[in-house]
Amino acid sequence: IYRVQTPTALPTFLLIGPSGSGKTAFLTLAERRAAAQTHTSTAPLSIEALLPDGYVPNSAHYRSPGDPAYERARRLLLLDTPGHGKLRHFATAQLVNPTHVRGIIFVVDAASVADEAGLDETAEYLHDMLLALQKRYTGAKTSKGPKEIPVLIAANKLDLFTALPPHLVKISLEKAISEVRKSRAKGVKDSGVAMGGEEDAVDEENEWLGEGGEGAFEFRQMEEVGTSVAVQGGNVLGGEGSDVKSWWEWVAEQL
Ligand code: GTP
Ligand code: MG
Repeated sequence: IYRVQTPTALPTFLLIGPSGSGKTAFLTLAERRAAAQTHTSTAPLSIEALLPDGYVPNSAHYRSPGDPAYERARRLLLLDTPGHGKLRHFATAQLVNPTHVRGIIFVVDAASVADEAGLDETAEYLHDMLLALQKRYTGAKTSKGPKEIPVLIAANKLDLFTALPPHLVKISLEKAISEVRKSRAKGVKDSGVAMGGEEDAVDEENEWLGEGGEGAFEFRQMEEVGTSVAVQGGNVLGGEGSDVKSWWEWVAEQL
């Protein structure tokens, strides 16, 4: 007896990110083709969605709309997770065995990362998520290496005049993650000294995100561990309607 792929195993895109960044708003937009009021999430929520018209799934470039294989390739699952600090286990649990995860959409409030508190919170969550992906990759036992999981940093709320433009969201996050990395390393070291164990060096290495050495963290360092990181701006809501084109383009590339 062998396992056949069940029809429900659709490519899944995880929506992760701090509370209030717009994850559920995007899920609602994807489901209803219209934005609606949301409330802070307390549980994960998954919906089946179709890649909107006008975006071509990467695996179906040589087919045409209407072709059954083309239409099948447009199907996906969006899995929304709560961003509240105490409810992030729902998101991290998804990273433990991400068999059907085709990509991760890390939604950022581009206005909130313009101030230090918002930036730090976002950077910590992103750091921890990227570290989980790195550990999964480096800890894999197969010779083939685990499958790659790309990350989209969706810089949301660009309709707000206080929002940072996407390239500054990227630079700010890289800087802030460099700081998180430093302070986490110090934490590991201190606890290691306290315990006096011999595996400290190994631990320190495992807990260090990206390239070692003195340099700053950059998202492209994640390519070494099977994760490409893209940053794209958009807005789910806003006076002039929503604009999430670049996010769907990214999704289409992964399908
Ligand atoms: P949690 O469920 O707590 O993790 O938050 P979430 O990421 O699901 O946030 P949600 O989608 O509920 O959005 C939070 C708030 O931001 C809501 O009031 C939305 O209406 C608002 N919002 C979402 N996207 C945008 C946007 O593009 N522009 C503006 N101005 N507001 C937005
Ligand atoms: Mg939500």
